[in-house]
Amino acid sequence: MTGVLTVSETKIEDLPLLHRGKVRDVYAVGENLLLLAATDRLSAFDCILPTPIEHKGAVLTALSEFWFARLSNITENHLITADFDQMPESVRRSEMLRNRSMLVKRTKVFPVECVVRGYLEGSGWKDYQATGKICGHELPPNLQQCERLPQPIFTPSTKAAAGHDENITEAQFAAIVGTEAAEHLRSTALRIYEEAARYALSRGIIIADTKFEFGTDEDGKIILIDEVLTPDSSRFWAADTYAPGKAQPSFDKQFVREYLETLDWNKQPPAPELPANIARATTERYLKAYELLTGKTLLAEQ
Ligand SMILES: Nc1ncnc2c1ncn2[C@@H]1O[C@H](COP(=O)(O)OP(=O)(O)OP(=O)(O)O)[C@@H](O)[C@H]1O
Ligand SMILES: [Mg+2]
Repeated sequence: MTGVLTVSETKIEDLPLLHRGKVRDVYAVGENLLLLAATDRLSAFDCILPTPIEHKGAVLTALSEFWFARLSNITENHLITADFDQMPESVRRSEMLRNRSMLVKRTKVFPVECVVRGYLEGSGWKDYQATGKICGHELPPNLQQCERLPQPIFTPSTKAAAGHDENITEAQFAAIVGTEAAEHLRSTALRIYEEAARYALSRGIIIADTKFEFGTDEDGKIILIDEVLTPDSSRFWAADTYAPGKAQPSFDKQFVREYLETLDWNKQPPAPELPANIARATTERYLKAYELLTGKTLLAEQ
């Protein structure tokens, strides 16, 4: 590979920056394309940490690429290429974008998060404890934290510009996206989750829940967009240590969270630096997730 560069923030002179998320920087490439650049930023407890995680952006990008290809029999997607050398010259001028960027079709985004849950954790667990339901789905009584659900459920949420997304019922979801699109998004999200979760489990990873986004392309077709089935958009757990009744260690952020819990830090920005051994262990976890899921070694490919 061509020298490792950790990147906390991308800069491209010739392209308009549309958006900086917690992890990804989004640029416009002409009228109809976007460049999604995954940096090496890591967030924990909703704060961006100052220490970049080597190879993280590359893992997120390569995993999304892997899933887009694997799921292409279920849905079309926005990916044009993740191969840096195939990108327009305006992109190739910034070497820092290599191995971390996806060139995609720009779509009109449905303003909702299509969440699918196979296990009970996070806001789903909170809602269940308070009401016995998630997004209107009645669930059996006495389920434990992180327990596998009888079947995966679709639990959409709003896409809040700031603050936390809010879970909505399927009726509210349909009112936002329209009845016809609602049915398509729901059934596609469930099919993708079921296929991916079954495959991941055969490779030792539980995908407890995940979030998809969809958009409409210029022909009016609904396609899968954003990142897919990465540790940033999903809860990944190691299947061999899974035990319901308590929180599960996060596959990727376990060491970071455990380290941060030992500090006297109030979990408000600014977040503290990570020691080199914790950052290194986190890199190893991202590389491991990629290796387990794809059966390939990322660094050998670059
Ligand atoms: N093909 C596409 N067309 C149009 N917009 C897209 C496409 N793919 C992704 N996006 C948008 O790009 C943005 C990526 O932002 P990103 O996820 O990095 O940050 P965020 O959602 O604001 O915050 P967070 O970092 O918490 O996820 C999202 O708003 C997503 O909807
Ligand atoms: Mg996002």
